[in-house]
Amino acid sequence: MTDEEYMRRALDLAARARGRVSPNPMVGCVLTRRGVVVGEGFHQRAGEPHAEIIALRAAGEQALGADAYVTLEPCAHFGRTPPCCDALIAAGVRRVVCAMTDPNPLVAGRGFQRLRAAGVAVETGLCGAEAARLNEAFVKSTTRRLPFVLYKCAMTLDGKISAASGDSRWVSGSRARRYAHELRNGHDVVMVGSGTLRQDNPALTCRLPSGRDPVRLLVDGLLTVPDDARILKVRSPASLCLIATTARAPADRLAALRARPGVEVWQYPETEHVPLERLLGDIARRGWNSVLLEGGGQLAGRLLAAGLIDRVEFIIAPKFIGGSGATPLGGLDLPRMADAIPLQALETEFIGPDLKVSAYIGGGAAPPPEA
Ligand SMILES: NC(=O)c1ccc[n+]([C@@H]2O[C@H](COP(=O)([O-])OP(=O)(O)OC[C@H]3O[C@@H](n4cnc5c(N)ncnc54)[C@H](OP(=O)(O)O)[C@@H]3O)[C@@H](O)[C@H]2O)c1
Repeated sequence: MTDEEYMRRALDLAARARGRVSPNPMVGCVLTRRGVVVGEGFHQRAGEPHAEIIALRAAGEQALGADAYVTLEPCAHFGRTPPCCDALIAAGVRRVVCAMTDPNPLVAGRGFQRLRAAGVAVETGLCGAEAARLNEAFVKSTTRRLPFVLYKCAMTLDGKISAASGDSRWVSGSRARRYAHELRNGHDVVMVGSGTLRQDNPALTCRLPSGRDPVRLLVDGLLTVPDDARILKVRSPASLCLIATTARAPADRLAALRARPGVEVWQYPETEHVPLERLLGDIARRGWNSVLLEGGGQLAGRLLAAGLIDRVEFIIAPKFIGGSGATPLGGLDLPRMADAIPLQALETEFIGPDLKVSAYIGGGAAPPPEA
């Protein structure tokens, strides 16, 4: 196998922890000696051993003289666990091939320096674009102190996310709806506006057999969420419902919701609407790197106008509904075509009969410069 094939194996391993490691990155590591894999592993949860340590433990004494393929620069600082660089050096690894530099300023090149100073050969940048894409949420939250926001919606070919009556069950087919649960499984937080809550009463849980529920976030300036809303139901001690609100929230509703198990309310008293950038900053500070925005159009438009959405995935169903139903970006209202927000790195894919159109807003997942 080639260096690139080993690195792709390490990337596949890293991706197994999608949605499980925030605030940390997904990292995979493969150790080889004379062309044979002697150990491999991936970082499974924040606070637990890093990928390199798991691979080194699996390799034991065979790590002596081994090559390590790591998807992210090994850490050189004491965090919740000791530096991985020291462990690689102590085990006698002779060469480290790494996909990308860690954007964390505590690491950012220091890991490579430390390895080189100990006589370990270091090569960087192999599959760098893939590694940066894998960890785009970690890169954004580390460098911008904001979570990576993906806006996913389902619309008819005539651009409606609901009928004029408000009904939107269902726009897309069953395979696209299953895909929506895969997205929930892989994101830290799933977010909707109060209009969607009132109309659709979504649970926002992940209904895949081995899935886990993301934090369910409702933006609700007036706390109109009814007591029997599905989003408020607790399924496990780890499953949190977070509500962002404003000074307009009635005090008795605020107290009643705060008293419910599994519910947390963040009040922003200074503004009429929830200040979206501050809310997202607070989400990143809490250690949640990725947000899946599931609508509706008013909230998505406001977030897009504020430059807070990083990627869109629009599922386009081959059907027409007509009328004055909601549109994917109702809250965005730019006066001239010259003001339109350009999309980048467009991708298309069929999910059953529905067409998924995905794109980045702005720069997308640019890998940090190589050290
Ligand atoms: N097909 C799909 O994929 C899909 C997905 C979701 C929803 N839908 C449909 O979309 C419809 C609901 O969408 P919607 O657009 O009416 O409602 P929405 O976006 O879910 O709710 C409006 C949200 O925007 C917030 N907001 C408004 N102005 C704001 C501002 N200036 N700053 C910050 N926040 C602001 C509101 O806050 P306040 O609470 O403070 O007012 C509210 O949370 C429903 O018919 C639903 O079925 C379809």
